[in-house]
Formats: sequence, structure tokens, C-alpha cells
Amino acid sequence: SLMESSDIFVGSIDQGTTSTRFLIFNRDGEPVASHQVEFGQIYPHPGWHEHDPLEIIASVETCISEAITKFETAGHGRDSIKCIGITNQRETSIVWDHETGEPLYNGIVWTDTRSQSIVTELRQKSGAVKLSELCGLPLSTYSSAPKLLWMIRHVPKVRDAFDRGTLAFGTVDAWLVYRLNGVDANVFVSDSTNASRTMLVNLETLKYDETLLDFFGVRGKIHLPKIVPSSHTTAYGVIGSGALAGVPIMGCLGDQSAALVGQKGFSPGMAKNTYGTGCFLLYNVGERPVLSTHGLLATVAYHFDRPIYALEGSIAVAGSGIKFLQNNLGFFAESKDVNELANSVDDNGGCVFVTAFSGLFAPYWIDDAKGTIFGITQYTQKGHIARATLEATCFQTKAILDAMEKDSGHVLSELAVDGGMSNSELAMQTQADLINIPVYRPKMRETTALGAAIAAGLAIGVWRNFAELRDINRAGGTVFEPQVSQTKSKERFEEWEKAVNMSRGWVG
Ligand code: G3P
Repeated sequence: SLMESSDIFVGSIDQGTTSTRFLIFNRDGEPVASHQVEFGQIYPHPGWHEHDPLEIIASVETCISEAITKFETAGHGRDSIKCIGITNQRETSIVWDHETGEPLYNGIVWTDTRSQSIVTELRQKSGAVKLSELCGLPLSTYSSAPKLLWMIRHVPKVRDAFDRGTLAFGTVDAWLVYRLNGVDANVFVSDSTNASRTMLVNLETLKYDETLLDFFGVRGKIHLPKIVPSSHTTAYGVIGSGALAGVPIMGCLGDQSAALVGQKGFSPGMAKNTYGTGCFLLYNVGERPVLSTHGLLATVAYHFDRPIYALEGSIAVAGSGIKFLQNNLGFFAESKDVNELANSVDDNGGCVFVTAFSGLFAPYWIDDAKGTIFGITQYTQKGHIARATLEATCFQTKAILDAMEKDSGHVLSELAVDGGMSNSELAMQTQADLINIPVYRPKMRETTALGAAIAAGLAIGVWRNFAELRDINRAGGTVFEPQVSQTKSKERFEEWEKAVNMSRGWVG
């Protein structure tokens, strides 16, 4: 039977902010073949960040066909891949023509701040409407709805489609599912975790909320994907063409949700922190949403048989800070070289870098903060700035953990980490030092892709329940124990908070 066979595999598409991957997992949760490609980052103006929706699709297709070639070279047959999971960058907003499936504009990426004046306007308009009580999110440039409004107002093609009633809007999951099925199949769905990031969805009912749709002026005027659970045998359709034509898509999770699932954070009180392009801490709060009063988001953790909620601390810049040193400042040739540079000095030499490239997200939500380096003197070397860049994400994580403690009344005893920057020993040691609890890093760090594979595999019985996942990726992890005194880490954190306050209000 399917359950017993060792020759069964699950594919996982991980469509992130800077790269796309396709991984093929066996039943032990080990990746047996994979392929990754980077795709174009479009920065037309300060604060703008776009992706070409068709290039994203092409990148997925390339990853699938290359990974399948490797998989077959290793002696496996492609028909042993039983289903596919999808995980993706969240909030990034794509609009297309509902009839032709053609994109009407570049995708506006989650980091993009061009909707800042719309957000200010909406904030004034919101008055008594308690948006965040309905959707769990603060009004900010980060969520999808303000990006959608910007396109309707400023892009003539989008405006036309809106007026004619042919405008379709979706997050990246909806776009991928729609195009991978083939436009003619017209599979137009989004999973609960992705949908909960738009500001259009009621967090309790997981349905589009009339008050929110009215508030944003889109009720009855645009085509929106149907919201479905993260794991489902039929809702996501079937890959329409290419190396995996005919294979069903059975799992779908926003990437941060997928990482929580991949870390098996299934019990209330469990948390994970993923250092990808940005860095996102998700804390499982169980079957009822918890609204934050300390700058965190309330969101859907995952939705299998029933929705489970999370508190989230979102940091806009982690790996993108390292990429900035590499691509914009020419500090080194490859991301991993940041470690050597940062290790060339003993400490940050008095520098604090508030990497507020998209304003500052949680727990501060300062729209008009800009990236600022404090404490530069003639003594400052590239190494100090590299170190300050790694530290920025760690400081912001510390601020988020403090907020999480206040909101949940629970003190975390250990932080599970993953994502590219978690490969840095220096960054993870710094993190443990700043939060004063151990940091646990699993051996296999593709937890995001694993989470999507788990969502898909649970639908079809590759794994029948959470208990069957218990031993996956359990052995061989690393623990980073805090090594500096609490007084020292408190002092350093106070410097950071001072710097955060000084980064406000730069119009530029
Ligand atoms: O909310 C944005 C997030 O989903 C992007 O994740 O891994 O590309 O930083 P990542």
C-alpha cells in the first residue's frame, strides 16, 4: 500500500523572495534531489520592489525540470512523486486579467513601501473601524490590500480591468496554483495562511470580510481566490504540463507557516524563527487567535483539519541586509563570505545598523524609518558594518521575543531557527547571547520546503498524523548556549533601541 512503500516521494515548490527552489523529499523527510534559481529583483525607485510574475512561473518550471533530471539520474522514477506542496513569499501582490490569465503589472513585493501615503490616508479614514481586530494585522505597507489599492489607482491597465470587472487579484500561492494548473483549468484558490496576510480576510471565519472589502473599496468589484485549507486532496488541482504533468498539488502554506510546520511546531507555546530574506518569528497560540497589544501580528499558523493560529513578529531585513552589503556596497562576492568579514573584527566597534530598508516592522511599525548606521568613526572597518548587519536582525528578534512574552504571558525556553542566515555560527551565537536562551538549529535547514511537503503528504496519507512526523529531522541539530552576561546583553540592546528611535522621520 501507499503507506508502507518506501519508494514514495513528495515534491515541494518553495517560491521565496529572491529565489525559487524545488525539492523532492522521501518519507523520512530527507531531500533527495533539488534545484534552485535566483530571479530578477526590480527596484525602479527608492522603496519600490517588484517581481515579474511570468519570470516567477518560469523559475518554478526550470526548478521542477532540473530537479527531476537529478532525481532520475539518482535512479528514481518520476511517477513515485505522489503529490506536490507549495510554499511561497507572502503578501506579494499580483493582478491579472480574469479572462486571459495575463498579468497586468509586475508583482508588488511585500517589502515595497510605495503605498505609504495610501496607508496614511486609510489610517485617517479608519476612525472607529478596528481593522486589526478583524484581520489581525496593523494597517501598513506590508500587507497586500494597500498594494492592491495602489495598483488600482496608479496603473491604467489595472484600473481598466477594475472598471470592466475583469480584475483578478491573488498572492503568490494563488498565482502559482492558477498558472501551474494551466489558465484554462481556472483553479483560483488561496490557502488560509496566505489569505490571512491580505487584510481582506476575517481571522475568525477565514472568509472575506464585508467590512474590510468595503473599507478598501473592492467589495463585489474584483475576482478573489476561494480560501481553502492548507492541505487538501482536490482543491489545488493538478500540474498541467511539464515534467510533472498530472501530479496533484495537495499542500499550500505561506513560507513562514511552512517553516513552523517543518519545525513541527504543532503545540501551543512552540515557536520558530526563520532568517530568510526577512526574518519571521511564529509562535503557536492554538485554536483561538490572540490579538497582540505589543506590535505583533495575529495570523493563521496552518489550517489542516482546523485552523491553528500564531502570533508573529515580522522583520523586513535579514538576508537582504547581507545581499545589500554584497550587491550594493561590493563588500564580498558571495553571501557566506559575510562571516569571514564579520569575524575579521572582535565586535561591532561601536556601530549599530538599523536596517530599516522597508521602514521598520515588528514590534515597532515605524513607516518612515530609513536604514541608518550609527557610531561611524575613522576606526570603522567593513567588518564592523558586516557585524552590525548580522546583529540588526538579532536585536529585532530580541525586541519581538519581549513583545511575545508580554502578549502571551509565556517565557520561551528555547528558540528553534532555520533559513539562510541561521547557517552563520556568529549570527546564531549573537542571537543566543542577546535573548539569553538557547538557540536550536536543526541539521536539515530546508524546513520551509519540508513544511509544504508535509502539508501535501498529510492530505494523501504519506504521513497519517503528526506522530508519524516525530522522528523527521530530529537528530544532529546544534544548540547555541548564551555566553555573555545578562548585564552586557541588556546594555547592547539599549543601544539598539536608542538607534531605532533615531532612525525615524527621515524623508530623504
Ligand atoms: O512575509 C514575507 C515572507 O513570507 C517572505 O519570506 O523567506 O522570502 O524572507 P522570505
